[in-house]
Amino acid sequence: MNIVVKKNYEELSQEAARIVIRKMKEKPDCVLGFATGNTPLGLYALLAKKYEEEHLDFSQVSTVNLEELFGVAREDPISFYYYMQKNLFSKVNIQPSHIAFPGGLEADAQKACREYDQIAENIDLLIVGIGSDGHIGFHVPSDIWKRKTSVCKLSKSERDGYEKKTLHVPDFALTLGFESLMNAKEIVLLAAGAEKAIVVRKIVYGDITPQVPASILSLHSRITLLINEKAAAFL
Ligand code: GLP
Repeated sequence: MNIVVKKNYEELSQEAARIVIRKMKEKPDCVLGFATGNTPLGLYALLAKKYEEEHLDFSQVSTVNLEELFGVAREDPISFYYYMQKNLFSKVNIQPSHIAFPGGLEADAQKACREYDQIAENIDLLIVGIGSDGHIGFHVPSDIWKRKTSVCKLSKSERDGYEKKTLHVPDFALTLGFESLMNAKEIVLLAAGAEKAIVVRKIVYGDITPQVPASILSLHSRITLLINEKAAAFL
C-alpha cells in the first residue's frame, strides 16, 4: 500500500485532484468511482475550479457513485445524487447519461443491485473515504464482506439524522459490493482529521477483517492511502 501523508486537508485535496486529473488526461473516457461525505469535498471543489479556469474536460468521463439512499428522489437534498450535482456535476461538462448511482428509478431493490454490479464493473480510478469505525459506503463492521451491490439497512442514528432534513426518511441504502471496489484498476482511500487516526492505524497495521470493512482494500495492488498529518498521528 502506497501511503502519502500531506500536511493538511488542503494539500490532501490538491494531491487527490492531481491524481484524478492525471487519470483524465491519460484516459479521457475513464470511469471514475466517487464517494460522498465531507472528505472529498475539497477534491470536488478543485476539480470544478480546474474546469472553470482551464476547461478540464469531463465530456467523455463516466462516473459510478459508491452509494445511494433507496427510494429517495434525486431532487431530494438528502440524496447522494443531489450532493454530487451540487458539489461537482453541475459545475463541469459531464454528460448526464454518463452518471451512475445505485437504485435509479428501479422499484425492486435487489434488481437494482444486480444492475449496478454490471454498470460498476470497470472503474479506472476509485476515490473513497472511510468512517472512523472502518466503514466504507454503507458497509458497516460485520462478520462478512458483501461481495455484490447490497441493500443496507440504515441505523437509527442515520435515520434520525435524515428525519430533520426530509419528509420521506429512507430505511435502506444501496452500496457497491466489494468485488466491484476491488476490481477498480486504482484506488485512492482518503482520510483526514484526528477522528480517523485510529482507523488509519488499523488499516495500515491491523488485521484484514470485515470488522474493519475498509481493511480489505489494503490488499489491492494499486492503492494509495492519502491522509493528512492528523489522520497519520498513530502511524
Ligand atoms: C458516510 C458515507 C461514506 C463516507 C463516510 C465518511 O458514512 N456513507 O461514504 O465515506 O461517511 O464520511 P466523512 O468523509 O464525512 O468522514
